[in-house]
Amino acid sequence: MNKFIEISDVTKSYWSEDGKKQTKVLLPLSLNIAEGEIVMFLGPSGCGKTTLMRIVGGLEKQDKGSIRLAGDLLAGPDQRRGMVFQSYSSFPWLTVRDNIKFGTRYRREISVTEKEKITDHYMNMVGLSSFSDFYTNRISGGMRQRVAIARTLASSPDVLLMDEPFGALDAQTREHLQFQLMEINKSEQKTTIFVTHDVEEAILLADHIVIFSARPAQVVKKIDVNAAIPVSERQNRIADPQKFFSLRNEILEIIRAEYHQTVEAG
Ligand SMILES: Nc1ncnc2c1ncn2[C@@H]1O[C@H](COP(=O)(O)OP(=O)(O)OP(=O)(O)O)[C@@H](O)[C@H]1O
Ligand SMILES: [Mg+2]
Repeated sequence: MNKFIEISDVTKSYWSEDGKKQTKVLLPLSLNIAEGEIVMFLGPSGCGKTTLMRIVGGLEKQDKGSIRLAGDLLAGPDQRRGMVFQSYSSFPWLTVRDNIKFGTRYRREISVTEKEKITDHYMNMVGLSSFSDFYTNRISGGMRQRVAIARTLASSPDVLLMDEPFGALDAQTREHLQFQLMEINKSEQKTTIFVTHDVEEAILLADHIVIFSARPAQVVKKIDVNAAIPVSERQNRIADPQKFFSLRNEILEIIRAEYHQTVEAG
């Protein structure tokens, strides 16, 4: 397996403000992700998924261990990793279009005309063309989330880090964007880490699903979804319900066991 993203023995704890109580969020955690894969993270709430994403994105520093991207040790944020957060993030002083265009600002390899085209392409993809000139404090939360997604895609990072990006969206928009993401993955083979609580979404989109334990997060299981259900049988629907249900049940069983541990541990 080629190791495009190499997470090696990463640990992270948070300390309470008085410095007395330590919360261990990540135990030595190791995980390799191949180039072009979509890896979906599933795990109980509070287990450390966002923390791990922020560390991979360079927004947070691990206590120990290392992260490599194509062999290079990562030290801080850069343009190679584009992140969509759990909650909406957009610039309220910019219009929808300018927010999305902002994503292209570091793309030196393309012309100004090209940047305009890319902006329009992704604005259209997320269904916001008719809101092009609206400032983002004048649109709904779900629309702001779509702006954030379009902006990140427009920046064309080597790695897409998506932390429950579709969580706040209505079912139709969600389905549409899931499909678009599948298309992007097919055409551009963009390496993606995607956190979700939605098992169906995970099965639909993933090459691999990584299930985390209750906090402190460890990898409980890595599932090769392509081996269970080939991508060709996942055209925004799973063609074989039997395969789908058995995989879904297997995953839910593991998550359920971890959830009970979380509840019992308080
Ligand atoms: N900046 C911080 N300071 C202190 N504790 C934090 C901080 N960020 C996260 N934590 C704690 O770390 C743990 C993991 O949080 P994290 O946000 O990574 O979980 P998560 O798996 O993303 O959960 P969810 O599925 O609910 O989004 C939680 O117990 C949380 O309270
Ligand atoms: Mg989270």
